[in-house]
Amino acid sequence: MTLLATDLPSLSVAMRDGSRAEHEAAEHSPYMSELLEGRLSTDGYAALLLRLRRVYAALEETTRAHATDPLVAPLHDPALERLEAIDADLEHWAPGVAVDQIDSPAASAYADRIHAAGAWGGLLVAHHYTRYLGDLSGGQVIGRLLQRTYDLPEGRGVAFYEFGAIAKPKPYKDAYRAALDSLPLEATDVQRVVDEVKIAFRMNQALFSELAADLDAYRA
Ligand code: HEM
Repeated sequence: MTLLATDLPSLSVAMRDGSRAEHEAAEHSPYMSELLEGRLSTDGYAALLLRLRRVYAALEETTRAHATDPLVAPLHDPALERLEAIDADLEHWAPGVAVDQIDSPAASAYADRIHAAGAWGGLLVAHHYTRYLGDLSGGQVIGRLLQRTYDLPEGRGVAFYEFGAIAKPKPYKDAYRAALDSLPLEATDVQRVVDEVKIAFRMNQALFSELAADLDAYRA
């Protein structure tokens, strides 16, 4: 049987379907459950933000460095950048914390993987999608839950989930998926990208596992 190009799933569908099981695991991680049920201390949430800070520093540095790569340029958008928002949130959850001094093998391994992904734009796109499309999807729900559960004063502590320069996540995500589907990739390239998305999810899971190991210390 000859496989027509039209029989192949688009990149955006392949990325979402290919990471469905990994996504489910992330949603049910004990750390996230306890966080969203309001059982963690401010330090417990800051521990996640500090890890994400290392990850986004790598993602944003590497994406900027490859901004003119034909595979990266259609997705690169400074409106997505989260580093300043993470720093603003850390000022709320852990004022004055030394942001560079966390010992997190999982965050360091994730950051290293992102830096290495700069070798081919398709790999970098996998990391870009996994974080930013997640932040614009489930992240929006998580932000609202955090605000309610931890009774945050208006506008404090959840800047990470607020994209001031993106009026509506839904049309933005649709345009992002359309940009993914227009990338000049062969079928074998698509598989490489999907494989890297799965790895990116697993690296997020590793962050959660690392945090879960200290759950007793993080309980409020
Ligand atoms: C408690 C944890 C999580 C919850 C409740 C959650 C929830 C959701 C929901 C409801 C959607 C679909 C929204 C829509 O269709 O617009 C979604 C999509 C997504 N999530 Fe999550 N999520 C969680 C964790 C994560 C993590 C850890 C990652 C990876 C870092 C992630 C990455 C994504 C991505 C990439 C999408 C977009 C899928 C696509 O349409 O291509 N999520 N999430």
